[in-house]
Amino acid sequence: MTSSPALQPDPRALLEVAVATAREAAELVARGRATAAEHVDVKSSPVDVVTAVDRASEELIVGRLLAGRPDDGVLGEEGAAREGISGVRWVVDPIDGTVNFLYDLPAYAVSIAAEVGGEVVAGVVLNVATRELFTATRGGGAHLSSPARPEPVRLAGSSPVSLEQTLVATGFGYRVEQRRAQGAVVAELLPLVRDIRRHGSSALDLCSTAAGRTDAYYELDLKPWDHAAGALVAAEAGLVVTGLPGSPFGEPMAIAAAASIAAPFIDLLVELHAG
Ligand code: IPD
Ligand code: CA
Ligand code: CA
Repeated sequence: MTSSPALQPDPRALLEVAVATAREAAELVARGRATAAEHVDVKSSPVDVVTAVDRASEELIVGRLLAGRPDDGVLGEEGAAREGISGVRWVVDPIDGTVNFLYDLPAYAVSIAAEVGGEVVAGVVLNVATRELFTATRGGGAHLSSPARPEPVRLAGSSPVSLEQTLVATGFGYRVEQRRAQGAVVAELLPLVRDIRRHGSSALDLCSTAAGRTDAYYELDLKPWDHAAGALVAAEAGLVVTGLPGSPFGEPMAIAAAASIAAPFIDLLVELHAG
């Protein structure tokens, strides 16, 4: 049984829960940084790593969420999968950017999204290294705050005037064949745009584009936990968040682009057979 529309929770209340939980998880992840390399396993390929801290972070997040909201469902990268009965499902990436986490590159984040009836209505992406906090609620805008700037700033992306002036972020999957194909697309794209960035965290890529730090982002074959919170931040910042023509976002291509260049950018991805 799912809740009726009248009983659906307020996205702002769900966001509050998500932010408090993400802050706790970020403390745990930060404490685990120094010894992260001591407990590393591989998953889908030798370059797809998971640490004991990823697992501990997911355990903490799921425990906290369900302690407060025991009827909710959960989907987490490290195995959490629970059907709920409330109509709310949490989608969790306990560390997005695990390779950065291992190397102490300051771009790894806790990402928590709340879906109601299958639609993401609230999301938080908290960069553990910088403590930048990206948040969004559906219809309520996207915001960024940080210890240096605690007052949330509303995000509105960027407005590049042409593809030549578009700074593009992307990422690569973990399978060798796919990486080869993705590298070939980037080789074609690079001479046509301002430059390419590969930050190593899809959640932060989406949020950085929302903040206008990059102008467009695309990546193939993300998982729901990679993009659930970040895509809402990007959409609420006014970006075009979509898939390739005829396909929804993330199936299989995830695109978030400044509205000013979204159409030619998508055309270019089609031309380069990026999908
Ligand atoms: C990965 C990161 C990376 C992206 C990969 C993701 P993980 O997530 O978001 O930027 O390129 O596709 O799997 O493994 O660090 O949680
Ligand atoms: Ca991820
Ligand atoms: Ca992860």
